[in-house]
Amino acid sequence: MMLHAIFALVAAIPLAAALPAKPAYRLPMAMLNVLSESDGCVLPVGFVVQNFQIWTPAPNNKQSINIDFELIDDSTGISTPCQFNETSTSSGPSGLTARYACDNPTVQFIWEDNVLTVIEKACPGSSSAMGFEASGSVKPPLTCVPTSSNTTFGAGSACFSSEYGIPQNYTSLQPSPQDAQQY
Ligand SMILES: *[C@@H]1O[C@H](CO)[C@@H](O)[C@H](O)[C@H]1NC(C)=O
Ligand SMILES: *[C@@H]1O[C@H](CO)[C@@H](O)[C@H](O)[C@H]1NC(C)=O
Ligand SMILES: *[C@@H]1O[C@H](CO)[C@@H](O)[C@H](O)[C@H]1NC(C)=O
Repeated sequence: MMLHAIFALVAAIPLAAALPAKPAYRLPMAMLNVLSESDGCVLPVGFVVQNFQIWTPAPNNKQSINIDFELIDDSTGISTPCQFNETSTSSGPSGLTARYACDNPTVQFIWEDNVLTVIEKACPGSSSAMGFEASGSVKPPLTCVPTSSNTTFGAGSACFSSEYGIPQNYTSLQPSPQDAQQY
């Protein structure tokens, strides 16, 4: 009897692990149509921000902020470098907080008040007229060193996340604001 119970438990483990993780957000009703229309769409569940680095100029230095990190989403299989520098332009609609595309433009990010918000298109292959995106935020624990005026970028502060990989769940899934342009 005991053994039977153990076997049942062992058998149950791979099955449970094979099931997709349940997202932390609630799906809007309209998303259900997109899901039923898109074959094999895997919802973004969570992500890891890896190797986050930011350089911020001193007040008298005209250089742009530089941001560099890697975004990994095991649920959708995305792994992409993300950067911000003086050549970066917002890929979101004007009038909203500027958001910047990662090398894989399925992922965008916002950096505001030391909080990094990651936005990932849900079902990017969907032909549905309405686009959806998942988002979640992390506040990297930054460790900083000052940079002097004779370094490449000049006077400022070079910071990196003391946590190399920061895991986070997507906490919302909403219609994409640039719907009309992107879909
Ligand atoms: C600047 O950022 C863009 C992304 O906005 C990136 O494609 C480019 O490689 C970056 N340039 C440098 C010099 O890092
Ligand atoms: C850079 O500047 C700092 C002071 O701001 C000075 O101590 C250092 O020697 C300089 N380094 C070089 C390579 O010029
Ligand atoms: C993400 O959600 C899962 C399941 O709800 C939970 O176990 C996990 O702790 C969450 N991760 C983070 C980083 O909040």
